[in-house]
Amino acid sequence: MTTGKFITLEGVEGVGKSTNLELVSRSVKAAGYDVLVTREPGGTTLGERVREILLDKNENQMTPMAELLLMFAARAQHVEEVIKPALARGTWVVSDRFTDSSYAYQGGGRQLGSKAVAKLERQVLGDFGPDLVIILDLDVQAGLRRASKVSEADRFESEEKAFFERVRAAFVSRSTEPGYHLVDAALPLIEVQTNITTILKELFE
Ligand code: TYD
Repeated sequence: MTTGKFITLEGVEGVGKSTNLELVSRSVKAAGYDVLVTREPGGTTLGERVREILLDKNENQMTPMAELLLMFAARAQHVEEVIKPALARGTWVVSDRFTDSSYAYQGGGRQLGSKAVAKLERQVLGDFGPDLVIILDLDVQAGLRRASKVSEADRFESEEKAFFERVRAAFVSRSTEPGYHLVDAALPLIEVQTNITTILKELFE
């Protein structure tokens, strides 16, 4: 039996991850594969509990390193309990965020730097990583405006614009690596979705 493929969707708040996550999962199913949709931080009982802490606005003393370690604690559980077993049984996994968010938010936004994140990535994940990363890119102001309409601001969404500018820049700088695709999320939805569909075709062939 062939193993499944691991796809992640990334980007700053308000870029339209949820809508496009549905498209990705529908496309994978239409191509004839089983699909599991998950998210980070979260995806397991432990991960969802860690997520609550991470998003809680009352946790206003959390240090950047504590934040990074909690992200990876949730991720360690997620990979072993959910992602790897699914891939091993041939199921494709689509995750709303993964390690690239740690590079962008903790490495860039919190200014821990990419080396600190890379070190943990190696220790926790070894060589394991996504087969395809889709980064949705949008002007920060436009994204935050969209995000604020959907829900009340959590601990991250309460950050200032400069924080998100650093997050966006870190995402863009990662998008040149092999297996990465940067998608312009400012285009009309239909065009964004056509572009994502084209990217996915590569994996189906
Ligand atoms: P998410 O639910 O995807 O937020 P949204 O739907 O608002 O885009 O993710 C929760 C928050 O966690 C988001 O603000 C980004 C942050 N995050 C990190 O800072 N580092 C990480 O490694 C991950 C996975 C998420």
